[in-house]
Amino acid sequence: MITNIPSRHTTSLNGKWEYIVDPYETGFYDYRYQERKESDKEAYWSSDRPEGMGDHKEFGYHDQYTLSVPGDWNSQDARFLYYEGTVWYKRSFDYAKSNGAHKTLLWFGAVNYRADVYLNGHKLGMHKGGFTPFNFVVPDSLLQARNNYLVVRVDNKRYADEVPTLNTDWWNYGGITRDVQLVELPAREAISDYLVQLNPASTNEVVGWVKLDNTAGASVTVAIPALHVQKVFAVKDSLAKISFVLPAFQRWSPQTPVCYTVIISTATDTVSEKIGFRTIAVRGEQLLLNGEPVFLRGISMHEEVPQQGRRAYSREDAAQLLGWAKELGCNMVRLAHYPHDESMVRMADSLGLLVWSEIPVYWTIRFGSADVLAKAKQQLNEMITRDHNRASVIIWSVGNETPVSVERTGFMRTLLETAKAKDPTRLVSAALEVKYNSEKQLRSIDDPLGEYVDIVAFNEYLGWYGGTPDNCRGAQWSTIYHKPLFISETGAEALGGYHADSSTVWSEEYQEWFYKEQVAMLKKMPAQFVGISPWILADFRSPRRNNPVYQEGWNNKGLIDHRGRKKKAFFVLQAYYNQKKQG
Ligand code: GCU
Repeated sequence: MITNIPSRHTTSLNGKWEYIVDPYETGFYDYRYQERKESDKEAYWSSDRPEGMGDHKEFGYHDQYTLSVPGDWNSQDARFLYYEGTVWYKRSFDYAKSNGAHKTLLWFGAVNYRADVYLNGHKLGMHKGGFTPFNFVVPDSLLQARNNYLVVRVDNKRYADEVPTLNTDWWNYGGITRDVQLVELPAREAISDYLVQLNPASTNEVVGWVKLDNTAGASVTVAIPALHVQKVFAVKDSLAKISFVLPAFQRWSPQTPVCYTVIISTATDTVSEKIGFRTIAVRGEQLLLNGEPVFLRGISMHEEVPQQGRRAYSREDAAQLLGWAKELGCNMVRLAHYPHDESMVRMADSLGLLVWSEIPVYWTIRFGSADVLAKAKQQLNEMITRDHNRASVIIWSVGNETPVSVERTGFMRTLLETAKAKDPTRLVSAALEVKYNSEKQLRSIDDPLGEYVDIVAFNEYLGWYGGTPDNCRGAQWSTIYHKPLFISETGAEALGGYHADSSTVWSEEYQEWFYKEQVAMLKKMPAQFVGISPWILADFRSPRRNNPVYQEGWNNKGLIDHRGRKKKAFFVLQAYYNQKKQG
């Protein structure tokens, strides 16, 4: 995977793509449901031009059938609102390659869920996983100056042995949901990836590495002009280990989200990146940012624009969603339950919002399957590779509300250790479940997975899923783990604009009451309590929510409704966070 695409020599392939909806997979399988051979002229990756009078092609791309890329297909045409299946995308393009020896890659920000990619009738590759980037090498022999024929088969059907699995509480938007770019790299000494971060155990030592694209014997330079830093490191087996001490500098934090331009170069390649330098660590029950205890004033959010009921994918979308979080008084966001678009985490860097980033190991994943573990690991590696230079990202989460079992705990433990090994500069966690027992006022988080996380995080819905908000009054929370404690979800539904007395469920007043009781309870949490990210910033589409009056296919636990209007509870949480801010 090539990182930092914004700093590369790129050609965008965003825009209108022609499409074919193919629920019966006719483009991929023949009438005996055998996978079509690459040379099969009826395959939907083959040219749709008839080859002579008698040639009656039974498929074709036409500009009356187009979809915008990036974007999900469900929100672009009412006929697709609930469509899950295969859609073929086609894009023709001319391509003038730059002078000199170059390697060309085709890069996708994300495609949900499975992408089979073909160029000029030849398969470049296949990728699974709906929320992380991937790229394929484009052989020179394949690339034409004119009329390249790029076809992507996108299949977002859900399966039990995928990640996520069959059942989620969010809508499974399908499509080429993020940017598509052609990327040119120098043929030799190309920079493929790098990690440049502060050593968590130090205050000013930078540690990391630079990986080159199969190159031996070169050297890399790491420069930070604003700090007058310029260091050269030798490359061995395509890797340069880097370590150096920074002169006086401004640490990145929500109050001071300062990022420095870091320039990495080889004899043939240069990339630059805005990087903030901060440390994040746990010491006993404390969470330390730059060595100081920090309280996470968070909010959970889906990657969705509520007003249009569509996947978010742009800087403007990120600005709206993170802007609301800032208005709420947040210094942290939980990006649920999958890696959001890169523009979101880059904007969090500049806005000074700490980020919890998560892979969609959600609910009842097939924990006993090695194949499923490999899929989860792949998504974890892709998430970390894309965002490991983001100062805002402090926690890698390996999942949400996974039911306790030995198999599950083994599965999740492997993911936690994989994350830690790949990126020792950040913390790892997962959203654990808590069993409610409304009689017992004492609730303890003793999930066995708590042993392997850095932060013990749990979801609680006391007063919504069980009891009424006043049940919070006597509630006491604790954990058997001497680690920081974090509430990764709490919340209640309210139909935006529906007003009644506070005991009327679905009303804004009930949700407001819920938050008032929760906030009062939070003030009595144990000392190891380091923060919360309530569920959820804005209402979002969910096919599991079918109350015909108060839901209609939406989960309305948002503090902001479908029209972007703030509900009463928004101001309860805002007041609490302003208080916390004043400390
Ligand atoms: C769960 C889950 C969310 C879900 C929420 C809810 O805890 O993690 O994905 O949407 O609860 O029930 O609204």
